[in-house]
Amino acid sequence: MTPHQIHLIRSSFEPLKPLAATVAAAFYAQLFARDPALRALFRGGDMHEQGERLMQMLSAAIDLLDRPGALIPVLLRLGQRHVDYGVASEHYDSVGAALLDTLAAGLGDGFTAEVREAWTTMYGFVARKMQEGAVSAVLAA
Ligand code: HEM
Repeated sequence: MTPHQIHLIRSSFEPLKPLAATVAAAFYAQLFARDPALRALFRGGDMHEQGERLMQMLSAAIDLLDRPGALIPVLLRLGQRHVDYGVASEHYDSVGAALLDTLAAGLGDGFTAEVREAWTTMYGFVARKMQEGAVSAVLAA
């Protein structure tokens, strides 16, 4: 990711932070509309809390984008835990698409082609690292 892309992600995420609960709810609505079978994986129940955790994690990842040495181990461990949640590698595409649709709806005109590209790159990086963590969890089992 370029420093400019990191800047674009941070500045586009900023206006969404106070709306975290709404953004998270919109994200899950998008995700379950796209792939209703995924609903069964979220056994923890309270989707409001789930949404908060997701937004906190995204926020933490965004803060660490320019410190990959600190970010990567967090993502590897997060990906390992997702194996226990029943998440498989093909699910990452649905989550990525739901995230981009949610950002597009939330940011409106602010979701320029350049901003979309930056988020796509970031999600690809996060998903890749989480899937690497998942593979090492499966191999170690
Ligand atoms: C950018 C990628 C993702 C991020 C940042 C993320 C973040 C999180 C966080 C922070 C948690 C809370 C538990 C923990 O920290 O271990 C969690 C739980 C969970 N995530 Fe993700 N996740 C991502 C991708 C996915 C994908 C692709 C799926 C597949 C549908 C998924 C499904 C779940 C499930 C099922 C749980 C547990 C829910 C429960 O206990 O009911 N996540 N995720």
